[in-house]
Amino acid sequence: MKLAIILGTRPEIIKMSPIIRECEKQGIEYYILHTGQHYSYEMDKIFFEQLKLPQAKYNLDVGSGPQGKQTAKMLSGIEEILVKDRPDVVLVQGDTNTVLAGALAASKLHIKIGHVEAGLRSFDRTMPEETNRIIADHISDYLFAPTETSRKYLLNEGIPEEKIFITGNTIVDAAYQNLEISRSGADVLEKLGLKEKEYFAATAHRAENVDSKERLGGILSGFSQIYREFGLPIIFPAHPRTVKMIGEFDLKVPEGTRLIEPLGYLEFLQLESGARLILTDSGGVQEEACILKVPCMTLRDNTERPETVEVGANLIAGCGEKIIKCARKMIESGCDWENPYGNGNAAELALQNIIIGYNIAQY
Ligand code: UD1
Ligand code: UDP
Repeated sequence: MKLAIILGTRPEIIKMSPIIRECEKQGIEYYILHTGQHYSYEMDKIFFEQLKLPQAKYNLDVGSGPQGKQTAKMLSGIEEILVKDRPDVVLVQGDTNTVLAGALAASKLHIKIGHVEAGLRSFDRTMPEETNRIIADHISDYLFAPTETSRKYLLNEGIPEEKIFITGNTIVDAAYQNLEISRSGADVLEKLGLKEKEYFAATAHRAENVDSKERLGGILSGFSQIYREFGLPIIFPAHPRTVKMIGEFDLKVPEGTRLIEPLGYLEFLQLESGARLILTDSGGVQEEACILKVPCMTLRDNTERPETVEVGANLIAGCGEKIIKCARKMIESGCDWENPYGNGNAAELALQNIIIGYNIAQY
């Protein structure tokens, strides 16, 4: 059996890393196809280096561009590769344009598709990610749902039960596999002059936030209020998209907010673990905060990770006046919730189910 692991962005590299490691461990034949959706060193190569991943066999170097054009370039490039280096199963992870293109290309060639992190729903069709994940789920053959909630969403949409497997989320595998290395190896707190629990960590990159002057301005003004009230710095490793839009909108980074370059995974895990509170619009960061037992606020109006809110690890704070109110609440909150995303064996479970399916198909 041969797998093609398709990835293209920072979170996909991180969340696919346990699958890649598991393939190596089990001697499963695979190759990595990188779309090149992310390409800056700090959004791409640094993760291959830190996670000791083999280089991609193919890199399409698609880069940035309008949604449709970017997806179309990927679709056509992926199809060409799948035709000449045909795998038995294609694996995609999450909800990016890379996922949509990878799943579509495989579907048209009648290649089986495994969707890692299936069944997440924000119920907000204006998000490109929602369209991507719905389409990927509906054309997949193996749907690896992180939780019972995501399994239910899939069943409600008519996806047959036998295609759905609850595995947990591979972000738990990645966090557990790298936390100790991060704690002993990374020195980001020292470098930034920070003490544990005496700072907040923030990220924001979501299109609906950073492409709107009002929402991005609202986030920065929320940070300013937080700094005035709590006197703790907000460390903000910013996605290149966010830096670009702060410039384009001519927004001022307020006092107390430290905008820094994106961090490597080991450094970012350390920053998250030591934070008093995490403010984010990232999907992966909401999950990690929950896993690392650090209170989180989501700078959005909804989340496709309701489990984090249900266990008391996360509040939906929006991008305006609610930010300060949520910060007051979360800073007082305990951290004794259960991680809803599994035991850290999601990659192993996903591969096990693919192998079983493949073996059945051979007979
Ligand atoms: C994409 C995903 C989003 C995911 C995020 C992870 C889609 C629709 N969106 O959003 O779901 O949460 O990745 O981070 O697939 N840029 C660089 N260097 C890079 C990559 C991007 O400078 O390596 C800048 C470019 O200005 C680019 C912008 O970031 O135009 C947006 O990049 P893009 O990949 O289109 O979307 P993301 O915002 O990264
Ligand atoms: N991350 C990182 N460095 C940073 C910010 C985030 O390594 O400076 C990691 C983080 O640990 C998480 C992933 O990137 O695993 C989340 O990716 P992102 O927020 O870009 O995308 P999303 O999860 O929202 O799709």
